[in-house]
Amino acid sequence: MKILGIETSCDETSVAIVEGKKNYVELKANVVATSLAEHAKTGGVIPEVAARAQLKFMLPVLQEALEKGLGYSPADLTIKPPPVDAIAVTYGPGLIGPLLIGVETARTLSYVWNKPVVPVNHMLGHIYANFVRENEKLKTKNEKDEIGIEFPLLALVVSGGHSDLIYMKGHGDYRVLGGTRDDAAGEAFDKIGRLLGLPYPAGPVIEERAKAGDKKRFKFPRPLLGEKNYDFSFSGLKTAVWRETNNLRNQTIMGLPRSPDLNGIARNDIQLNEQTINDIAAGTQAAVIDVLVKKTLRAAEETDVKSIVLSGGVAANKMLRETMQSEIERQKIGAKLFVPTRSLCTDNGVMIAAAAYFNYSPIDWRKLTANPELYYE
Ligand code: KG4
Ligand code: ZN
Repeated sequence: MKILGIETSCDETSVAIVEGKKNYVELKANVVATSLAEHAKTGGVIPEVAARAQLKFMLPVLQEALEKGLGYSPADLTIKPPPVDAIAVTYGPGLIGPLLIGVETARTLSYVWNKPVVPVNHMLGHIYANFVRENEKLKTKNEKDEIGIEFPLLALVVSGGHSDLIYMKGHGDYRVLGGTRDDAAGEAFDKIGRLLGLPYPAGPVIEERAKAGDKKRFKFPRPLLGEKNYDFSFSGLKTAVWRETNNLRNQTIMGLPRSPDLNGIARNDIQLNEQTINDIAAGTQAAVIDVLVKKTLRAAEETDVKSIVLSGGVAANKMLRETMQSEIERQKIGAKLFVPTRSLCTDNGVMIAAAAYFNYSPIDWRKLTANPELYYE
């Protein structure tokens, strides 16, 4: 079964083609266009800007995916629809404008090609990046026909909007154990990056800067770590960093000679020392990873799962991946860790097509609508 997957929930426009196998999907094509550079200029995503970019990228990305994945040219399309069995699309959660571009494209393709359409929850989609062949684990283990993931599993979904722990007994059979109470992990990285004057999205930049930083110089809080729940909260961490950067900037102002030139300089315009930025980046990353790893492993032990899967943009973080693996070994947790290839951690159409393959419930295109507020159903 071949599935075409469409993802447009935020700032990536992606179309992928996958072929479903017994317990994984094989990647045929994954085309991603992003409006990230535009959002970097404003320090965050402006929904209207993201929606316009979706509109601009949608059809060229679709065309490229059909050519790469199926060798299908626009001329071929005038003769017959491409050989895909279904169209999968993200219908929420996300920004309404961007979501609508993908949803309307899927509705149109379903109508003109007469193919079934499968709506996919973006957050569940992230989990399915682990069921794609190209999985790092699979490559190193030389397992040809098995992806190796066993149920029950525990999924940590960490992105710009979510930090969730999901317990899954099987495909489509899941329970949300906990989620973010305020800022999500990726959001915390992005907001703290802004305080430090780093570009958006700050997650990958903080990871890079942390390499040259001393994680022990600043002691940042580990919110909710000791509480007996599976929820996360990162806004306190952001406030702690804000307080620290404010103090550092105040000290710099006090150290400057009194001069009329200082009038009108906003405190936030004062550049922090480069090493201090690295140290705050390292302290921030250590605090986020500490909470994510400890809570995930406690949940894994208490639910006695066989597999732990990471997903979402923050799962691209190498330190998170390595710490999770080394702590599983150190604490002798009886579950195997799976992580998607780094490029499949951030938003893409492959994970959407994969989720549709394993949770195949097509609907009539007339019933398909976007739902920006969608939670787990
Ligand atoms: O899943 P995603 O592409 O979009 C959402 O659905 O939100 O995740 C984007 C988030 C951003 O907050 C970004 O800063 C974070 O993932 N991120 C990272 C890394 N790469 C992306 N955070 C930490 N380390 C990374 N390497
Ligand atoms: Zn996402």
